[in-house]
Amino acid sequence: MQLFVDGRPFLILGGELRNSSASSLDYMGPIWERLEAQNLNTVLAGVSWEMVEPEEGRFDFRVLDGLILQARAHRMHLGLLWFASWKNGMSSYVPAWVKSDVHRFPRVRLQGGEEPEVLSPLGADSAAADARAFGALMRHLAKFDAGEHTVLIVQVENEVGILGDSRDRSPLADAAFNGPVPEDWFRYAAANPQDLVPELRARWEANGSRTAGTWTEVFGAGSATDQMFMAWHYARYVDRVAAAGAAAYPIPLYANAWLNEPNAKPGDFPSGGPLAEVLNFWKAAAPHLSLLAPDLYASNFEERCRLFTRCSNPLFIPETNRNAEAARNLYLAVGSFGLIGFSPFAIEANPPTASAVPEADRAAIGKAYAILRQIAPLVLQHQESGDLVGFNLDKEHPSRAVELGGAVLEISLDELFGHRAERGAGLVMATAPGEYLGAGSGFRVIFRNPESIKGRVGIAAVTEGVFRDGVWVPGRRLNGDEDDQGRAWRFSSWEPGIETCTLYRAE
Ligand code: DGJ
Repeated sequence: MQLFVDGRPFLILGGELRNSSASSLDYMGPIWERLEAQNLNTVLAGVSWEMVEPEEGRFDFRVLDGLILQARAHRMHLGLLWFASWKNGMSSYVPAWVKSDVHRFPRVRLQGGEEPEVLSPLGADSAAADARAFGALMRHLAKFDAGEHTVLIVQVENEVGILGDSRDRSPLADAAFNGPVPEDWFRYAAANPQDLVPELRARWEANGSRTAGTWTEVFGAGSATDQMFMAWHYARYVDRVAAAGAAAYPIPLYANAWLNEPNAKPGDFPSGGPLAEVLNFWKAAAPHLSLLAPDLYASNFEERCRLFTRCSNPLFIPETNRNAEAARNLYLAVGSFGLIGFSPFAIEANPPTASAVPEADRAAIGKAYAILRQIAPLVLQHQESGDLVGFNLDKEHPSRAVELGGAVLEISLDELFGHRAERGAGLVMATAPGEYLGAGSGFRVIFRNPESIKGRVGIAAVTEGVFRDGVWVPGRRLNGDEDDQGRAWRFSSWEPGIETCTLYRAE
């Protein structure tokens, strides 16, 4: 699945602003040039319920309109983050008129009785009020932006889920937890048996594969079941909000996840958010969302990409680190997981706040985007045809072999005269029989024939170049040390680049 903008597939080379930046147009003024200098095509920016509906029923979209105009002036698209009922599990962005009415807008209750500043996802009036505000926002966007499509995508809420307990223990939540698992869940499970994630299937089967009963009867007691229950109710609530928005202006909507670390328990991370192990509940309960997106700061990046592409979920990474490792991960995700968009967090941060971040890390995303902007049309075309591979190599994962375009490509960390690169990342696509295009740095490719093909295969020519306005402009012909005297298609460790390679064959 790909994101289409004005009839063409589009790759979001984005960055997410820090939470408060987009609340002031003056503050944003000088930031845009920094974003352009990093070669972004899209900026993810927060829009908050407290600012757009300061009094119930009175809407104010002036800052949003200004933001859209600023983005247009800088030839930038936007993704909006609807900071409303929940942001990082808390409810700090709801308007004061919601905060001050705990009866109409009930709070979660934790074990022990504490009721923190967090709306319960079981609160029907809360969902209705949030949905009304989001519907108004999307109606406004339809009027203001449908002609230009500056805004491409909208995130509904931010990192939902309950913190400090595995489930809500308010009276409303207790009643639902002790009631039947909704029939909609069983309908989804029956219709999509191939999509059920193994950990969920195992829990269901271990409890007798029941097709009716309470949450504990169907899935057993414990925090994993609590997490499923919360996932269902957060997803239902978010879907209600999303549905109101989609009815007003049908552009892609998604929800993002604060991920769990190994051995963390539901409640250490927001329990009920769209995590990999409960993706099915979100797919079943939130059909108005186009995708569920991991905020991917974790170290096991590749495994998380695999988990978030189960259930036909398109991969979009709205938050990640802003460093050289993230830039390397970008190639991997675009090339091997069909990534539709990437967006390091705090993209506008500059010294002194980011002075702890080394220059190489701050520059890495901009450099990778400079490359991907040039080859995005080809990448998108080859994502669709499938003859594309992306990789991120290091000492623990120094090589991989893949069959592509009729040859086996042995891709490994670059080396020359016994000196091996410590890191390398890139992507390679088969552009025509015996022809490849690659991008990245710090890796090399050796070609051999698959078992089924006899004879000799080797490098005919390697050429570096750039795409100017979509047209390939060749630069140096790379030979000698630059292709290890004909033995390998090499991408230097210094700067990421784009190169083509053609093969010869002989009997
Ligand atoms: C994840 C959240 O989604 C962001 O809004 C922000 O709070 C970051 N964490 C902070 O690193």
